Amino acid sequence: MSDSSRPGSANSNDTFNISESLVPPRELKTAGQSQVSFDGLLQQPLLLKEDLKEGCGGQLWPAGMVLAKYLLRRHQSTLVDKTIVELGAGGGLVGLAIASGCKIGPSPIYITDQSPMLSLMEANIVLNSLSSTVQAAVLDWGEPIPNIIPKHPDIILAADCVYFEPAFPLLISTLHELLGPDSVCYFCFKKRRRADLRFLKIAKKAFQLSEISDDPDAETYKRENIFVYAIRSKLGTNSKNIARC
Ligand SMILES: C[S@@+](CC[C@H](N)C(=O)[O-])C[C@H]1O[C@@H](n2cnc3c(N)ncnc32)[C@H](O)[C@@H]1O
Repeated sequence: MSDSSRPGSANSNDTFNISESLVPPRELKTAGQSQVSFDGLLQQPLLLKEDLKEGCGGQLWPAGMVLAKYLLRRHQSTLVDKTIVELGAGGGLVGLAIASGCKIGPSPIYITDQSPMLSLMEANIVLNSLSSTVQAAVLDWGEPIPNIIPKHPDIILAADCVYFEPAFPLLISTLHELLGPDSVCYFCFKKRRRADLRFLKIAKKAFQLSEISDDPDAETYKRENIFVYAIRSKLGTNSKNIARC
């Protein structure tokens, strides 16, 4: 990934304000390994290899921390029997966290990203002994969905995937393809610059968006311009129940 497509890259006009309360302070750094327990929500901390040489997904980002924590807290037992796909997974933070701390299965969780991130996702699956429940795959937004990925997954996860304007229509197109009538995408978004709002505007036209209302941390991360939405297809049979998320 080029520098200009990194969140908060030097080519953008703003800095990438990572809250120290969300992610430990860091520089854009060389390869290393982090341990994350999400304030004790995981009994056994997740081990995450980080390596930025293949792209910005090679480190932990604040929206991923927020989304994982929300799911661990509020969806610990609602994901069983669901098919789950994570988009733009980077090193796999969100998918690996829920595979560790939520009741899931029997289908594996698919953590997906562009091909340069595949080896990092695979390394993190092995590092956490999650090979029986998590599968890494290449899913390039805007490209045909690989056959291995469930058609219309029940749950789609996406954290910090809005930062590069040319990718907005690609992400919208992939969401269109994946969202079935009963699918829900938990979408954690950090607004860094005005253009990011354009994504929300397009998404609101294309889908049903509702801000999640059951996260006790919401007021804290909203101050950091981080928001969690539930996104559903406008054709969804559940659209009348949208207020429940
Ligand atoms: C800021 S990182 C977020 C990583 C992770 N979700 C997290 O929260 O820590 C954005 C991720 O989106 C991925 N991405 C960007 N453009 C993509 C595309 N066209 N198709 C698939 N993934 C893409 C990047 O490779 C990167 O891993």
